[in-house]
Amino acid sequence: MSERDIQETTGRLLEKWDREPVNLLQILIALQQSLHHIPDQAVDLLSSTLNISQASIEGVIGFYSFLHTSPRGEYDILFSDNIIDQMLGSRSLATQLAERLCTNPGDTRCDKQISLDYTSCTGMGDQGPAALINGYPLTSLTPERIDRITALVEMEVPVTEWPEELFHVSNNIRRRDLLLDSDLPPGRAIESALTQGAGRLLDSLGNAGLRGRGGAGFKTADKWRFCLQTDQEQRVVVCNADEGEPGTFKDRVLLQSYADRLFEGMTLCAAVVGAQKGFLYLRGEYLYLQEPLEQELEQRRSNGLLGQAILGREGFDFDITIHLGAGAYICGEESALIESLEGKRGIPRIRPPFPVTHGYLGYPTVVNNVETFIAAAMIAVYGADWFRAKGTEASTGTKLLSISGDCQRPGIYEYPFGVTLSEILHDCGAEETQAVQIAGPAGHWVAPEEFHRTIAFEDLATGGSFMIFNRSRSLLEAVNNFTNFFVHESCGFCTPCRVGTTLLKKLLNKILNTHATRKDMESIETIGTLMQETSHCGLGQTAANPILTSMKKFPLIYKSRLRTTSFEPAFDLDASLEEARLATGRDDPGAHLKRGGV
Ligand SMILES: Cc1cc2nc3c(=O)[nH]c(=O)nc-3n(C[C@H](O)[C@H](O)[C@H](O)COP(=O)(O)O)c2cc1C
Ligand code: SF4
Repeated sequence: MSERDIQETTGRLLEKWDREPVNLLQILIALQQSLHHIPDQAVDLLSSTLNISQASIEGVIGFYSFLHTSPRGEYDILFSDNIIDQMLGSRSLATQLAERLCTNPGDTRCDKQISLDYTSCTGMGDQGPAALINGYPLTSLTPERIDRITALVEMEVPVTEWPEELFHVSNNIRRRDLLLDSDLPPGRAIESALTQGAGRLLDSLGNAGLRGRGGAGFKTADKWRFCLQTDQEQRVVVCNADEGEPGTFKDRVLLQSYADRLFEGMTLCAAVVGAQKGFLYLRGEYLYLQEPLEQELEQRRSNGLLGQAILGREGFDFDITIHLGAGAYICGEESALIESLEGKRGIPRIRPPFPVTHGYLGYPTVVNNVETFIAAAMIAVYGADWFRAKGTEASTGTKLLSISGDCQRPGIYEYPFGVTLSEILHDCGAEETQAVQIAGPAGHWVAPEEFHRTIAFEDLATGGSFMIFNRSRSLLEAVNNFTNFFVHESCGFCTPCRVGTTLLKKLLNKILNTHATRKDMESIETIGTLMQETSHCGLGQTAANPILTSMKKFPLIYKSRLRTTSFEPAFDLDASLEEARLATGRDDPGAHLKRGGV
């Protein structure tokens, strides 16, 4: 690509994104898609036009795993490295493809034709093994499909001309309840809000007992009320469609087939809190959904359900922009997501203040999960009693679960809260189940003697991930996968998480290699507890969960690998942290153990 082409592409993208510094990340993502990397000349031009230092731009590029300063191959293939994809054979398929194309995972071939690597979960656990090619999902991979892909690459067929079936994404909805089984005519929820007024609508959401579906379970009515009560003129509504928790894919299905309900819920929220601006933060792995979602937005604009004077109401102006993520799990954390929306690295903010009073560009901002907005829209139409009729006293309504792993019918199941694990396992055809991992790596292991327990905020809370492991599986391998995930995804901002995740990985390796002793298990507990108590955000606070909960629930998988000696040094602790220091660009005394670190 000539210098002139680079200038032209960058100039065009700057124009498209209004030369606004907050749109930096969106411009970088588009450059990566067009040029297969972000060249120095583009960085220069962005820096001078947006008035952002080159170092800051390079910092943003370095933060997101889908952005690169050196060219990726014409065919850029990333295999999903979720444990479920691994169980379905992703590693051997990646090796097969690498051998066929004379490259290695992690490499870009010298002729720049192909890059091959692994990435965190791509959200296709129900139809893996999965991969992304130039950002688009390849599903249900088999050795035969790998051969077809090899041929297409060798014949240099553009990805846009590849057979559609390679990219087919199924919804796999296996059980419907309140949300998926009822109609929601476009505009009805907004109309209801406009007729009832904000106060009554908030009362209705409160009476319904709706709590956030993204994991934390904050009461939705309270969040919207806090935003409404702020004294600023401008307010913002953000839908968190980052869905990065490995094993979760229910938002993918909602975005693919229920997007109109989501936009209805976001517009309802805007009507209640008085917002003018909305964002859908769409994870980069769901790039294939961007175009259909844009079309859905356009449709709503032409039907008077978005834009100026919505439903003919003078002064009710609200619109939604889609912003893409670029492969950073931490951007699902709401304050990191807002940083990312502002075009920056997704480092979680110090809270308080919370986004609901100081969010996007300092404006009061409501951030909710996809499923939460849809539930709010349904409650606005069908009422609080309709919603409360399902679920438990403390967890009203239903929950969408993304079920994957060792079962005959993986997919989306909508259950009333209070459903037992046994019932779920029966419905999806799971047999000989050794363990279930609820709520993804950040969640908890559940052993068979607890399968009477329920999905509910007061018992087993989950954002939606439900991964099943039968007796043939090595749970330690799964714990290892989750632990590596957190090392990769830690943003490096605070010491307990940056250092702790690396230490846990090293100690776990020691266990896997049968070099660990009881002392190492104690170290894991100490480090894990420290991380839970002192990490800056939810990622670090939960990163030790896979090890700690498996040590508690499945002590034998550890004990059988321990040495009987009381201590065996495994590594130079400080030297072992060099990787983490390099990754985060830190070498100050606080980043060293010997010189006063943790
Ligand atoms: C590391 C991390 C990742 C998260 N990822 C997501 C996500 O992908 N989607 C989501 O809705 N919430 C995610 N959350 C929770 C959000 O911070 C926030 O609580 C949620 O979007 C609020 O919406 P809700 O009240 O509707 O659940 C994450 C939190 C943490 C700490
Ligand atoms: S806990 Fe981890 S992810 Fe969160 S701010 Fe600290 S380093 Fe970043």
